Amino acid sequence: MNNEKFIKETIKNLREEIGNEKVIIALSGGVDSSVCSVLVKEAIGNQLTAIFVDNGLMREGEVEEVCETFENRLKFISVDGSDEFLSALKGVNDAEEKRKIIGKVFIDVFQREAEKIQAKYLVQGTIAPDWIESGGGIKTHHNLALPNGMVLDVLEPIRDLYKDEVRELGLELGLPEKLIHRQPFPGPGLAVRVLGELTREKIAISKMGNHIISEEVEKSGFNKNLWQYFGVLTDSKVTGVKGDQRDFGYLFVIRMVSSIDAMTAMVPELPWDLIKTISKRITSEVKEITHVTLSVSDKPPSTIEFE
Ligand code: XMP
Repeated sequence: MNNEKFIKETIKNLREEIGNEKVIIALSGGVDSSVCSVLVKEAIGNQLTAIFVDNGLMREGEVEEVCETFENRLKFISVDGSDEFLSALKGVNDAEEKRKIIGKVFIDVFQREAEKIQAKYLVQGTIAPDWIESGGGIKTHHNLALPNGMVLDVLEPIRDLYKDEVRELGLELGLPEKLIHRQPFPGPGLAVRVLGELTREKIAISKMGNHIISEEVEKSGFNKNLWQYFGVLTDSKVTGVKGDQRDFGYLFVIRMVSSIDAMTAMVPELPWDLIKTISKRITSEVKEITHVTLSVSDKPPSTIEFE
């Protein structure tokens, strides 16, 4: 793809379509919404407002990183929705139910911010696999009706691109390398990496374990062979021993997969010293975890995430 040509043409089309109207985007900090945000900003400047919703389920340091990256680049609003998300999730164990609640609260929070802006358009970072895999059913031009009755025209400036092209475009637009090459992270965040009911404590434990895995995998350089590398906090407690005392803490799972498009995935042969280092660090630095185990199942039959 010729990036320069794509950027020029997209900017021209966006300006023609949007005119003087206001535009919003839900910026998650993921590659697709980040690239879309800077691309649309190039076209219409401060007519665009990016809204970032912190659901309290982000990775270690992620909220700060997203704010630092975009605060000075765009008209940017950051909303702390963590209390709202966590209280809606209280007592909920079922994985699909958790996902539904997270989606609903996200729309509630986003809608509240959107109302203040009176935008006509909503930018979405849809990319080609998103609509091809869902049967091609999404129309190029469509509207999105929010529960409050607000109707937004949806713009999808990168809908014909694939992930590698989006990454290239992001670099061309000056986004930091670290953001462009980061591993995919699910919308519901750590919620799918904490089995059973979500509590602040369990989220914090999963966050620490996940942070250690990322740090060690990236330090070793093995991340180049992986699509995703993360940890899952199970809802099981197992016996351990610390010093000469019996301990009783969580079972934590390391999951590392390689994949091209997440439709299928495999667990490659992993460096044993890396696995042992991660395991030792987690059991010594995260006092609530007594046992670390390694997932070896491919997709199919397993999915990449546990919930
Ligand atoms: P699974 O677990 O279905 O995941 O094999 C395939 C890819 O999708 C990501 N994933 C999600 N992404 N919302 C998202 O935005 C979700 O609810 C969700 N669930 C899974 C997962 O991380 C993997 O890359």
